[in-house]
Amino acid sequence: MDSPPVILQVEGIFLTFGGVMALNGVSLAVRHGEIFSIIGPNGAGKTSLLNCINGLYRPQRGRILFNGQDITRLPAHRRARMGIARTFQKTELFKNMTVLDNVRLGRHIHMKTNLLDALIYWGRAEWEELAHRAFIEEEILDLLEIGHLRHRVVGMLPYGLQKRVDLARALALEPRLLLLDEPMAGLNLEEVEDMARFILEINENPRWGVTCVLVEHDMGVVMDLSHRVAVLNFGNKIAEGPPEEIQNNPVVIQAYLGEEAAYATRR
Ligand SMILES: Nc1ncnc2c1ncn2[C@@H]1O[C@H](COP(=O)(O)OP(=O)(O)O)[C@@H](O)[C@H]1O
Ligand SMILES: [Mg+2]
Repeated sequence: MDSPPVILQVEGIFLTFGGVMALNGVSLAVRHGEIFSIIGPNGAGKTSLLNCINGLYRPQRGRILFNGQDITRLPAHRRARMGIARTFQKTELFKNMTVLDNVRLGRHIHMKTNLLDALIYWGRAEWEELAHRAFIEEEILDLLEIGHLRHRVVGMLPYGLQKRVDLARALALEPRLLLLDEPMAGLNLEEVEDMARFILEINENPRWGVTCVLVEHDMGVVMDLSHRVAVLNFGNKIAEGPPEEIQNNPVVIQAYLGEEAAYATRR
């Protein structure tokens, strides 16, 4: 069977901050439909890599291709419009706004009507607004089971639900590629199970069919969800393969999983 085409190609990315080498020639290829995980110790360069992919950071060397198109020099909003969405390690939400308004901001770039149009064809603008709102309310909030919270102020919600709103905001873009930066961090066991279920649904349900790049420390989640896993250590990719292979790779165990296992026994 032929493998699905590559959606994201990262070619030899170098990124330094002063003397710190955050990414040291990292390459990888993610295929349509995959959940591709990136693991590694704190400071390994995982968030920096996501930032290079969505355009928050500009690597000093290397290329990034999205569906074959070179996006290395495109600003973040152009990449978002092409279908690259992102959640954040420490959610980036407007804490004093409602769930619905946060999600609508994620959707905003899909609104075609500009201000002039809105003045001339008020009816169309109004209709679009309603249609978008219906789309957001019905599909995304329902999917993530937060419809009943739509008018709640985000900052007042428990952290686990804020992470879900952050995911809703990213989904409002109807992305083709979703970058998830530690979606399980700070969640309790039940919330982790819910979040894993949502990520699987977004990936597997053809209505969404979103390819995911997942940065995550929870190894149970990584092993359960991922089609392939890459391991970063001090800005270098030290391994890549199917989850069961990564779990048994001695280099990975020494660099990372050993440390996690030691951490697990200390808890
Ligand atoms: N904006 C920044 N300014 C300076 N150094 C940074 C910045 N972002 C990341 N770094 C450095 O790059 C390295 C990788 O960080 P990061 O990508 O956040 O790692 P991870 O997400 O794997 O924990 C670290 O040494 C970090 O201090
Ligand atoms: Mg990080």
